[in-house]
Amino acid sequence: MTSKSLQIKRVPKKINNLLLKYTVPNIVNEFVQEHGWNTSTKVASSFLDNWAFRNLKSITDELSEFDPHLKRMLEGNGGVRKWEYGMMLQSCPPFQDKQVLDVGSGPSMLPLFLAKRKGAQVTVLDLPKPFTIEFEEMSRRLLNDNVILRSGDMRNMPFEDNSFDFVISVSVIEHLSHSPDHKSFFPKDVFVEETRKTLTEMYRVLKPGGWIYLTTDAYIPGRVKTDAWGKKLLDGNPFGAYPVNELEDIFVSTFKKLGAAFPFPIIYDQDLIISSFRHSSYRNRFMTVFNLFAQKPSTMS
Ligand SMILES: C[S@@+](CC[C@H](N)C(=O)[O-])C[C@H]1O[C@@H](n2cnc3c(N)ncnc32)[C@H](O)[C@@H]1O
Repeated sequence: MTSKSLQIKRVPKKINNLLLKYTVPNIVNEFVQEHGWNTSTKVASSFLDNWAFRNLKSITDELSEFDPHLKRMLEGNGGVRKWEYGMMLQSCPPFQDKQVLDVGSGPSMLPLFLAKRKGAQVTVLDLPKPFTIEFEEMSRRLLNDNVILRSGDMRNMPFEDNSFDFVISVSVIEHLSHSPDHKSFFPKDVFVEETRKTLTEMYRVLKPGGWIYLTTDAYIPGRVKTDAWGKKLLDGNPFGAYPVNELEDIFVSTFKKLGAAFPFPIIYDQDLIISSFRHSSYRNRFMTVFNLFAQKPSTMS
C-alpha cells in the first residue's frame, strides 16, 4: 500500500524526461515573445542542437565537398563543427568582398572556404606556436590562396581598430583557461578576466556594422563527472569551458557594455541541456557548445 501510493506521487523518470522534452521548448517561445523578437527568426544564439543538423545539411555538404580535411573535421566530435559552421553560414549576411578575421583558425580550412567559395578577403590569426600540429601544412595552402596569415595573441591583436566586417572564432576562447603548453591552468577569475579582455579586442577590431560570431563550450556546474576532451576535472569542473549560469554575465554583458546589438535571441537556459541529449556535446552529457552573434552598430552619418 505504502509503496503504491509512493509510486503514484513520484513521476516516473521516463515520463518526467518526456514532460521536460515537450515543455522546455516553451521556455524558448515564451522568451522570444517576451522580448518581442520575431518568432520566424531562423536562429537563436544558443546551445548546440543536434536536431538542426538536418536543416543545415546543404550548407555542411558544400563544406564537406570543398575539402577532405574539412569533411573530416565536420564528422569528428559528434559533428559539432557542422552546427558551429552551419549556423554561421546560415545566419550571417553575405561574405562577398568583406574583410573577415578568423581568430584561432588552427587546422581549419573554413578560412579557405570563405575566401574561395564566398568571395571574402580573409585574415587568420593564431599563436606563433599554434596548439595544432596541422597548422603548418594548412598555412601553406592558405597562403597560396591569398589568405593573410598573422601570428599573435587574441588578447592583444595586431590590428587597427575597426578593421573587419566579420570577426569569427570557433572553439578558441575556452583555451584561455590554460597555458599554451596545457601544463598550467589559470584560476577561474583570471580565465574570466582574459575572456572579457579578448571579447573587447574582438569588438575593437570590428568595423561599425560588423558581425562577431563565436562559439565555445559550457557546462552545468556540479553535474559533470568526466570530460571526453580534457580527461580530468579541475576542482570538480571541466577546464576549457564556462558555467552555463554565468554565460550571460561573461559574454552577453561584456558585449552589451561595449554597445553591441544582438541580431538573434540569446537563450542560455540550462533546462534545455538537462531536458534533452540533443543539446549535449561529445565532452559530457551536461556539457554543450554555445554560440553568440553580436553586432557593432553602424555609426550615424
Ligand atoms: C580548437 S583549435 C582551432 C579551432 C578552429 N577555429 C576550428 O574552427 O576548428 C584552437 C586554436 O586556437 C588557437 N589559440 C589558442 N589560444 C590562442 C590565443 N591566445 N590567441 C590566438 N590563438 C589562440 C590555438 O593555437 C588553436 O589553433
